[in-house]
Amino acid sequence: MSQAEERTLQPTRRGFLVTTAGLVATAGSAVRAGAAGAAQAKDAAGAPRRSKDQVESFWGKHQGGIVTPAQAHTYFASFDLETAKRDELVAMLRRWTSAAARMSTGLPAESLSQGAESAAVDTGDVVGVPPSRLTLTFGFGAGLFDKDGKDRYGLAGRRPEALVDMPTFAGDQLVAASTGGDLSVQACADDTQVAFHAVRQLARLASDVAQIRWVQTGFIADFGAKSTPRNLMGFKDGTGNLSVGDSAALDQFVWVGREGPAWMRGGSYLVVRRSRIALEHWDRMAVSFQEQTFGRHKLSGAPLGKKNEFDALDLELTDHDGNALILDNAHVRLANHASNDGARILRRSYSYNDGVNFTAERWPPWRQAMEYDAGLLFVCYQRDPRSGFIRIFDRMSKFDMMNQFVTNTGSGLFACPGGAAEGEFIGQQLFEGA
Ligand code: HEM
Repeated sequence: MSQAEERTLQPTRRGFLVTTAGLVATAGSAVRAGAAGAAQAKDAAGAPRRSKDQVESFWGKHQGGIVTPAQAHTYFASFDLETAKRDELVAMLRRWTSAAARMSTGLPAESLSQGAESAAVDTGDVVGVPPSRLTLTFGFGAGLFDKDGKDRYGLAGRRPEALVDMPTFAGDQLVAASTGGDLSVQACADDTQVAFHAVRQLARLASDVAQIRWVQTGFIADFGAKSTPRNLMGFKDGTGNLSVGDSAALDQFVWVGREGPAWMRGGSYLVVRRSRIALEHWDRMAVSFQEQTFGRHKLSGAPLGKKNEFDALDLELTDHDGNALILDNAHVRLANHASNDGARILRRSYSYNDGVNFTAERWPPWRQAMEYDAGLLFVCYQRDPRSGFIRIFDRMSKFDMMNQFVTNTGSGLFACPGGAAEGEFIGQQLFEGA
């Protein structure tokens, strides 16, 4: 091979950029074509659960990723703020907002047509992959307002009352390495690399202003648009959830209204919990016991005593001896709004699977073995965590039959501001005039 031939085969940085720019242009037209295709699919079959070609709009009254029909994958990340300068924080939020808006349409985080000599901002690893319904949902933790008694950004007086310090719940085994954080970013997409790519670009754009504290990936298998997905315990998960089509219920239970500060209106509070499930132990239980644990049938998802998945839960039903069909400590009884002064939350959880590690079981014969570190990344949104998650989980954490299989190892509470209008940055109103 001649030297000239060799040179043409060696990818130069400029060559890479030109190539990727070409691919971006191609991806851009695919986005437009895909959006039209997806609109047709929607008309035909209701809200599609997953589509690689569809774009979820970034701008609007509410942030994406809350009532968006759940995508197949998530990459949740919590960040610690490293800077003491408010200006640097604001500049980062501006960069994040613009990158998030671009990436949700399938574009790179920042324009790739920069000088060939500087490192590209976008890593380029999803160039050519459709937008995959990417959403990015941003949240503010208590540490933004007040960290170890320090008001780093002059925001302490603006901390919403509802952004409480999370109480310690019965059985919590939280580890610092997957708990808390000053900022949260939840990427959701129908492609796992698209979700990872998005957080990776934001972390790069954060530079020294913020650093990743912990992350958690998650997934939901494809059960088809019309079926409720099953979690790793084999049960349909989401049947009794709030409907994202019920705007009155969302206004009542999910979106912050006039009771909150202006920057939180149209926003919501995110509670995230990393719940490890002792799958090996669960899998040894009789199906009837599993059904009593939840208060629902495993295959159909119907409440105990009923036939169909969406039949109403009847907590009064008894067997011929007068015993409750749905036990006092069954998960759905403890979780149901009738047991919690009407409290409701919007659940948006993902299964997770982080390999295996050496674990001592808590039950006879106290087996010690390599066990799955797998379970649920429990995610829920609510108007106020005090009357939402905390209200429900306080009793649930003490009495739920399911707890014997679940260990909560991570937790976070974040105030997710309302959505941004084009040209604004996420949380802008919090910083204006404070
Ligand atoms: C490992 C953790 C968890 C698992 C595997 C799990 C699983 C389930 C399943 C299978 C159902 C029945 C189907 C459905 O209605 O979706 C359900 C219902 C529910 N869960 Fe959970 N859950 C977990 C944690 C939690 C937590 C921490 C909360 C809130 C504090 C919660 C709140 C609810 C609510 C509100 C319902 C609906 C109850 C009703 O029918 O009214 N869950 N969960």
